[in-house]
Amino acid sequence: MKKNANCKIWLNGRIVPDSKAKVSIWDRGFLYGDGVYETVRVYNGRIFRSEGHWKRLRHSLAGLRIAYQASDAQITRACLDTARANGIKEGLVRITVTRGEGEVGYDPSTCGKPTVVVLALPVRGDLTELWRGGVKIALVKVRRNHPGALNPAIKHTNCLNGILAKIESLKSKAFEGVFLNLDGYLAEGTISNIFVVKGSLVKTPALDCGILDGVTRGATIEVARKLGYTVNETRIRPFELYGADEAFLTSTTMEVMPIVQVDRKKIGTGFPGRVTAHLQEHLKNLIRKELKF
Ligand code: PDD
Repeated sequence: MKKNANCKIWLNGRIVPDSKAKVSIWDRGFLYGDGVYETVRVYNGRIFRSEGHWKRLRHSLAGLRIAYQASDAQITRACLDTARANGIKEGLVRITVTRGEGEVGYDPSTCGKPTVVVLALPVRGDLTELWRGGVKIALVKVRRNHPGALNPAIKHTNCLNGILAKIESLKSKAFEGVFLNLDGYLAEGTISNIFVVKGSLVKTPALDCGILDGVTRGATIEVARKLGYTVNETRIRPFELYGADEAFLTSTTMEVMPIVQVDRKKIGTGFPGRVTAHLQEHLKNLIRKELKF
């Protein structure tokens, strides 16, 4: 998501110009990364799988014990109002909920109401070429946070684990950095989930590998099973990725993105595979069908 000059921001219930959208320096989001967020994709003015995103938002809020009283309908309204205020029919909307202002110190009981910010931005760049040609990823050295320390299933605003991985992957000009967990199994990308394909078997790291339960991951598994593929949510060693016929990433922003290279190793033929293209096409169909466009 790229900063848009003169965009409109939804801040605690009011839509204001970004120059007026100010958050206190006492806000826990600023001081400690003490907050949660969701990014949704708006197609033709409607949100894909909003119910899945709001369910995960509530899971994240509960995980951090942040009390935010808003109904799904109110959250959807805030997101669509922000998109509309910015003239966006095709874009991304991010809602951030922090624990709000409090005293310095970790004790959350000093905090008042959460701070809520909604941003809407147009889709950045055209992914068509990347969808056709695939991307290179890097397996990064920094490991995914252990779920017993800071659970990656919580979509929190303390993103340093991902930022360290991004810095590493940018060194090798990779499109995405992918983490192993502390046991050496594949986990996920900095902003995406990962799948590998061998023959017609589709595998993806199980949720207990310590990952975010991606909305696109779920939709892709659904699509794959409907098309007759066997999908295993399991433990995957890096050698299975290097030796895969195909691999791909999934996320709200990239849908199904083929991986054609991992570090210096080409995946399969070095071109996006047949199964990946099949899932890519059918996920797009599902989105069109659900959002009626
Ligand atoms: N990122 N894993 C991580 C760590 C992520 O941050 C994301 C999403 C995903 C994919 O989840 P979903 O399919 O629900 O988008 C997996 C969003 C796009 C972001 O950070 O803005």
